[in-house]
Amino acid sequence: MTVIAVTNQKGGVGKTTTAINVGVLLAKAARRQVLLVDSDPQGTLTRQLGIEVRALRVNFVDVSPAGGAPRTPSSPAYTAST
Ligand SMILES: Nc1ncnc2c1ncn2[C@@H]1O[C@H](COP(=O)(O)OP(=O)(O)O)[C@@H](O)[C@H]1O
Ligand SMILES: [Mg+2]
Repeated sequence: MTVIAVTNQKGGVGKTTTAINVGVLLAKAARRQVLLVDSDPQGTLTRQLGIEVRALRVNFVDVSPAGGAPRTPSSPAYTAST
């Protein structure tokens, strides 16, 4: 199994775009099984894959040993579980 992390503290630098395109290309062109893990409380990657983040009963913050990223009142992870 190969793990690829797309990470940068700065927003708007192409993390989500890179993750989606690399993931889809690996799945389609390289015929690899790909699991995309969205650890951003904004849930943009999840939404762009057609999943409604507020409808999820469990999310990355709930399963992360470190508790995931800090929850904020406006984040989907916060509102989905409160
Ligand atoms: N290689 C690229 N060339 C041009 N625009 C890009 C490129 N990668 C991302 N973008 C655009 O930059 C913006 C931020 O990208 P995004 O992937 O959401 O960043 P991040 O996840 O780091 O916040 C989006 O509008 C996206 O369409
Ligand atoms: Mg992003």
